[in-house]
Amino acid sequence: MISQNTIQQILSRIDIIDIVGTFVKLKKRGTNYLGLCPFHNEKTPSFTVSPSKEIYKCFGCGRSGNSISFLMEHEKYSYVESLRWLAAKYNVEIEETETSPEFKQQQQVADSLFVINNFAQQFFSKELLEKEEGISVALSYLKERGFREDTIKKFQLGYNPEARDSFTKAAVGAQFNADLLIKSGLVNERDGNKYDNYRGRIIFPIHNQSGKILGFGARIIKSNDKAPKYINTPENEIYVKSKLLYGSYFARMAIDKADECLLVEGYTDVISLHQAGIENVVASGGTSLTPDQLRLIKKYTNNLTIIYDGDNAGIKAALRGIDLALEASLNVNLVLIPDKEDPDSYLQKVGAAAFTEFVAGNKKDVILFQLGIALKDAGNDSNKKSIVVNQIAETISKINKTEDFTKQQDYIKQCSQLLKIEESGLHALVNKFIREKIGKEETRNERAAFEQASTPVSETDNEVMALFNRDEMNERAMVRSLLEFGLKEWDEHQKVVDHVFKEIEANQLEEMIDNKDLVKILNTYKAWYDNGIEPDPKNFLYHDDLAMSALVVSLMDFNYEISPNWKEHFEGHIPTREELYKEEVFSTLNYLKLRKIKRLIAENQLELEKAVDPDEQMVMVEMHQHLKSLEIELTKHLGTVIFR
Ligand code: CTP
Ligand code: MN
Repeated sequence: MISQNTIQQILSRIDIIDIVGTFVKLKKRGTNYLGLCPFHNEKTPSFTVSPSKEIYKCFGCGRSGNSISFLMEHEKYSYVESLRWLAAKYNVEIEETETSPEFKQQQQVADSLFVINNFAQQFFSKELLEKEEGISVALSYLKERGFREDTIKKFQLGYNPEARDSFTKAAVGAQFNADLLIKSGLVNERDGNKYDNYRGRIIFPIHNQSGKILGFGARIIKSNDKAPKYINTPENEIYVKSKLLYGSYFARMAIDKADECLLVEGYTDVISLHQAGIENVVASGGTSLTPDQLRLIKKYTNNLTIIYDGDNAGIKAALRGIDLALEASLNVNLVLIPDKEDPDSYLQKVGAAAFTEFVAGNKKDVILFQLGIALKDAGNDSNKKSIVVNQIAETISKINKTEDFTKQQDYIKQCSQLLKIEESGLHALVNKFIREKIGKEETRNERAAFEQASTPVSETDNEVMALFNRDEMNERAMVRSLLEFGLKEWDEHQKVVDHVFKEIEANQLEEMIDNKDLVKILNTYKAWYDNGIEPDPKNFLYHDDLAMSALVVSLMDFNYEISPNWKEHFEGHIPTREELYKEEVFSTLNYLKLRKIKRLIAENQLELEKAVDPDEQMVMVEMHQHLKSLEIELTKHLGTVIFR
């Protein structure tokens, strides 16, 4: 884990203008900065960044957050990855803390698995290259398929013999822990007997970026209906299928150099292309691309060329991951291999030169290609055609980073021509999908933070605020005033924070706060304060409880700022919130108390209706009068008192 000290150092250096400015062109406008929103498509800037509050908000699509959530959303980093990115940017040396026992345990398992895999690779390679069975059964097979010995060695291919437990015996003999061997997927156990999982198979080690072996793919030699063609390492501490791309270790330099990444399906495709000198190639293992894999590719290039079998399954597989890739701003091209071949077999058939020429000459833009098949499919059926229009609009809507604006416009033009529809109509439809998507994501991401009040897309910010009911607005204002003014003086004896918590406790106001995340903020504030830490809103802004930090961001929003235009229109002095902070604290607390009284009145009323004993009724009527007079008193003061 990154130490608290390091996190503090990183946070103290954060400059949101610098960070957001890495990705968005910002212009100074008053105290804030303004730019084109990177999260939705717009022509006039409504993306606002406040350097003093260290937050951003888009008044077009409603997204808001801090530096870290910006990196998480824009770069699709995790919280920890964002911290690491910032540390690198600001030259903060990362100090790892004493880790939790669970984490240490996990690290140890991971380390052991790497050691086991390394041992296994050496064992399997030896079996393939030096032992009789391997040479005659496996090496001969690989050579027959056209793989040279230097290629086999480079990719560290191997062979697991037919015998029940040749690897298991060697591994147990080398003192490896039985549970870890099973976890590695190399060994299975049945009725207390351990045996090799990959018996009689060719072994393809799978490397991470730095060449360490994460796991294996194991291919059967003679095809067999009962057994699967490939068996792969089960998911464990180091083998996480969704995060790896086969061949990335061998391909990274070439991808960087060519500024293009070729994507194929299989292990043998990667190896074949490599052998032919085409080294910028990785494999997805036949599944659609995940966000983690896309991120891996994007580290090196923005140009992805998918080379898949030309059959129906191949086309479908190729198109499945497309939307994600477009969303990640990748330029995606598609090359379909003809004649029921795959890249490996086609290359072996036609040779390297012809293969390279074929790839270069048959790159199709993936969106136009997709539209082409869909249109062919729809024929003259106008219902089907309208479905196609919707689908293509949705696909184009994924190309929505600011820097992709021209690209998106280009697609709208080309596709509307192909579809024979009005460009402006397709344009409107694309925008509809963009709005819908942002709306959906907001709801998903922020539900936790806002509980009942999610933030849908809205034209103006007032509309968003109107969605919160008055009670919630007040709860938020109360917590906000504490966050902002808590350490200021209340009277000569105490600070605002002391007064607020005294009031909350004396009147049991906590139960009146419906949004329990607000209560969490209050409690965290109090815990810090009681421990001699002065709570700064920034501590909340970068809290690793992301629901809490999202909520604080929304509390610290730009809504309460007096617009610079107002200042021009009004003569004289307009008091700022800063000057009126006591009133704000007083009235937000009052409002909570008032809610409490109203609730007590309602409860009392119910009791009164049920009561039969006249004495009892009398007590309740008196109670009612007492509560009513408190209510009147509170209402009188609500928002009207100014402390001097
Ligand atoms: N795959 C898998 N499990 C299977 C089948 C396939 O994990 N049972 C993955 C492997 O990563 C494989 C890829 O999907 O490399 C593509 O499968 P396929 O085209 O069937 O195999 P090839 O890679 O072409 O292997 P070969 O050329 O040896 O037949
Ligand atoms: Mn193949």
